[in-house]
Amino acid sequence: MKKIRIFLSGENGLLGSAVLSRLDKSKCQIIPLNCDITDQKALSKLSEWLSDIDVIIHAAAITDVKLCEENQKLAYSVNVLGTRNMRMLAEKLSSKLVYISTASVFLGENGDYKESDFPYPKSYYDLTKYLGEQIVSEYEKSIIIRTNIIGVHNKKSYNPNFFEWVLQSAQSNRDMTLYNDVFINPLSCQTLADLVLKIIASKKNIRVIHLGSRDRLSKAAIAKLIISKVKGYNGTVKLASVDAGGTQRPKNMWLNVNYADKILGMNMPSISNEIDRIFEELNK
Ligand SMILES: NC(=O)c1ccc[n+]([C@@H]2O[C@H](COP(=O)([O-])OP(=O)(O)OC[C@H]3O[C@@H](n4cnc5c(N)ncnc54)[C@H](OP(=O)(O)O)[C@@H]3O)[C@@H](O)[C@H]2O)c1
Repeated sequence: MKKIRIFLSGENGLLGSAVLSRLDKSKCQIIPLNCDITDQKALSKLSEWLSDIDVIIHAAAITDVKLCEENQKLAYSVNVLGTRNMRMLAEKLSSKLVYISTASVFLGENGDYKESDFPYPKSYYDLTKYLGEQIVSEYEKSIIIRTNIIGVHNKKSYNPNFFEWVLQSAQSNRDMTLYNDVFINPLSCQTLADLVLKIIASKKNIRVIHLGSRDRLSKAAIAKLIISKVKGYNGTVKLASVDAGGTQRPKNMWLNVNYADKILGMNMPSISNEIDRIFEELNK
């Protein structure tokens, strides 16, 4: 059987490295991007020797929300223009293009967002991800996956994400203030990688899909599940509203996953299952 040939951007990131490690090598062959997606010339050269690529998974982005706010030029060039370059590459190679977007393209007032709901990005990062969606959606062989990811990077060079911050704080016995009014339904990078690969292999015509856990929890409740896995933690945990800083922030960043359940023929896992999965990976 012919292997699916996949070209992957963001191969060292949280999701990209999980895709690399979870891939069934008997069924797929992966080619990591290994170049700057803002370098249109380099990508154009790549397209000359790359052939027979079935799918491009575009997981590269500037994901640090604060950095995107502070350096909007960089965020725009990678998340928007870089995505345009990836679309052009997909068009040249006539391959499918899977774009990883975020639950936070939505306003975050009510949650339970469906694929047909209208985005309303608030931060600059969210805006760049939404503009990326617009760019890829013009290509008929594109799939937009909106999600929220938890997990631990293989490489230490990244700014800690929410999961890593809680884990590191618990391991160093630091006190924590946790938001009890921000609700999310994330997936582990491992499960997300498996689902991305499942979507790629599917013959169904998926254009936009929301992937997340079947339950939603506050960030504080998720943090407590992580803390419960760290033996001997005796720091103080304070609960607070995300509005405590004086700015009104989105509180319901969770997605409706009914379409995913139906089209992928499964039930999305629970958050507690996802946290167990991350720790299993860490303890290997
Ligand atoms: N993490 C989340 O909570 C979350 C939630 C929803 C959606 N997403 C989306 O999911 C995707 C994957 O996220 P992630 O958490 O895996 O991100 P991540 O860990 O921050 O990794 C991002 C990757 O993008 C690469 N990258 C950045 N600028 C680049 C450039 N100019 N050219 C080529 N590669 C570049 C990075 O390369 P280096 O290793 O060289 O820095 C890194 O490999 C992103 O599109 C993100 O927006 C993430």
